[in-house]
Amino acid sequence: MIKLNYFAGSAGSIPGSIFAEKLIDKMPGLSRVYYCNSGSEANEKAFKMVRQISHKHRGGKKYKILYRERDYHGTTVATLSAGGQQERNAQYGPFAPGFVEVPHCLEYRSQDGTMGAQYAAASVKAIEDVILREGPETIGSLCLEPITAGGGIIIAPDGYWEGVQELCKKYDILLHIDEVVCGLGRTGTWFGYQQFGVQPDIVTMAKGVASGYAAISCCVTTNAVFDQFKDDTDRMSYFRDISTFGGCTAGPAAAIENMKIIEEESLLQNSADMGVHLKGNLNALMDKHACIGDVRGMGLFAGAELVADRASKDPLDEKQVMAIVADCMAQGVIIGATNRSVPGHNNTLLFAPALVATKDDINHITDAVDQAITRVLS
Ligand SMILES: Cc1ncc(COP(=O)(O)O)c(C=O)c1O
Repeated sequence: MIKLNYFAGSAGSIPGSIFAEKLIDKMPGLSRVYYCNSGSEANEKAFKMVRQISHKHRGGKKYKILYRERDYHGTTVATLSAGGQQERNAQYGPFAPGFVEVPHCLEYRSQDGTMGAQYAAASVKAIEDVILREGPETIGSLCLEPITAGGGIIIAPDGYWEGVQELCKKYDILLHIDEVVCGLGRTGTWFGYQQFGVQPDIVTMAKGVASGYAAISCCVTTNAVFDQFKDDTDRMSYFRDISTFGGCTAGPAAAIENMKIIEEESLLQNSADMGVHLKGNLNALMDKHACIGDVRGMGLFAGAELVADRASKDPLDEKQVMAIVADCMAQGVIIGATNRSVPGHNNTLLFAPALVATKDDINHITDAVDQAITRVLS
């Protein structure tokens, strides 16, 4: 960094090239890395790619981007246009055209009452219905979080991802996975999508790339996507995107160290192991507190959905949920919650402990939740 703190993205830098190589090594099938500085910007790049490919090869017609109810992709107007959390979007419209919502896949809130494999099939069919309604020739990409994060820790039912992959193949739709939260170890593998055996065309990431030590995000694509921009007869035949701070060397320098630490300290394994412990503790709390209606999680990423009544599944009032979060904070434990995001369903506590968390740390967190629930709801 003292030698070179910044160089324009058009030319690249040594830390940028080193990290790109290390990164794609963890992402079989993907091979091109574009640097930027926030999750929103990485997702915007992915949307622009879809639009450019549509202009170049589909007469501008295959431009629509599908996104899922309850998913979040960023704070800019285009990413809010792809935002499935109505309360986050409220007051910021009108939104960009060409973004179309597909239903969420939260089995606990099954839209048609089906469960398990039937629910997975119904959720995939719900996406296909949207594709057919809009016209497959108009759909450029499907943008999904591997696990819906801020929208309530939603893990799709078994069979969902196979169905999604098939739909994308069948209708020639690019699969864009937003790993801004799950990327770099959160779920116990390098990327969340790798838990589900799915092969994306575009992957975006941010928070975990340098664990917050530098502002860096990446938009990673396959060669097949990259090749669609190439055309020797066209002077505009490259992905015509620039990013001022995508050229900072602090980002990739920190990302190289971050990846090294994850490997040297076996933090993927720790995330997987401690995740089992976290989920076990939350399940034990569920036995004790009737207000916990559902526990969901993978690796060091978990949620506990709070209800007023287990039988009816009526969500616990948002104010009480936030009082539980505040009580934990007063005990020195910071947890999250779906907050002013999903109308009527801001009732899930969110847990994302550091990847170095120990059993004691996890116990400390869940003990605080136990006390907070007891105090707030007694
Ligand atoms: C899944 C997901 N995508 C995108 C973003 C946007 O990232 P940023 O805030 O860095 O723009 C976020 C932010 O929390 C996120 O959770």
